[in-house]
Amino acid sequence: MTSRIPFIAGNWKMNLDHQQGIALVQKLAWTLKDANFEYKNAEVVVFPGFTSLRSIQTLIDADNFEIKLGAQDISAHDSGAFTGEVSGIALKKLDANYVLIGHSERRQFHYETDEVVQAKTAAAFRHGIAPVICVGETLEELEAEGAAAVPVRQTLAALAGHEVLGNFVIAYEPVWAIGTGQVATPEQAASVCGKIREAIRSAHGEVADKVRILYGGSVKAANVAGFLRSPEVDGVLVGGASLDAEEFAGIARFQSHLAL
Ligand code: PGA
Repeated sequence: MTSRIPFIAGNWKMNLDHQQGIALVQKLAWTLKDANFEYKNAEVVVFPGFTSLRSIQTLIDADNFEIKLGAQDISAHDSGAFTGEVSGIALKKLDANYVLIGHSERRQFHYETDEVVQAKTAAAFRHGIAPVICVGETLEELEAEGAAAVPVRQTLAALAGHEVLGNFVIAYEPVWAIGTGQVATPEQAASVCGKIREAIRSAHGEVADKVRILYGGSVKAANVAGFLRSPEVDGVLVGGASLDAEEFAGIARFQSHLAL
């Protein structure tokens, strides 16, 4: 374990309306409280859909929850004629601490290129929202180029041209492991996360020691400790299992499984 605070992120994707979202965050907070969870040991961040952000911001604020809030996407533009887009200005007003950028579902189904990811990363930096830049290879890319080539390339492309100060997170999510139950081994995840950190070090220097690099893809309470045992892996990005408060709380409490 390093001095980087582990980052436990729940990507709700296009699930839950705002009432269900409120219920989930309440249950998550109470479950963690009952377990005497210490937020200094891990940062817990939820990424609801846009329509739930305001309700969850209000809940977190009113009940003084230490859970943090993130958005699932950000426009590259700040305002104007961009129907359907959501700007960093609006997200910042909702106290979004983080924003997912370049999730493989956006790259695959919404044709987001490395250029788009780079422009959205710029927008996040511009508005003081820390980007969680998602990178990862498909099964075909894994077979053609090995595991690290595509995630390293995507990481460097997203950061190109920015003044990089360490206020960002990288999430390595092999596309073949997302929502499939086909999880990468802890050794595979650690190896790619380590190569991403080395690439950031070569391109941007010491900031590489500050950035948190996560693994994502079929993470559950039962397998999280295996990933976080490695000093290369600073947290997890969780999809399906983040929709169940007790399961996600079990993931946030990974330190209690580390000894097992
Ligand atoms: P999963 O999704 O945990 O359901 O595999 C991870 C993600 O897409 O962020």
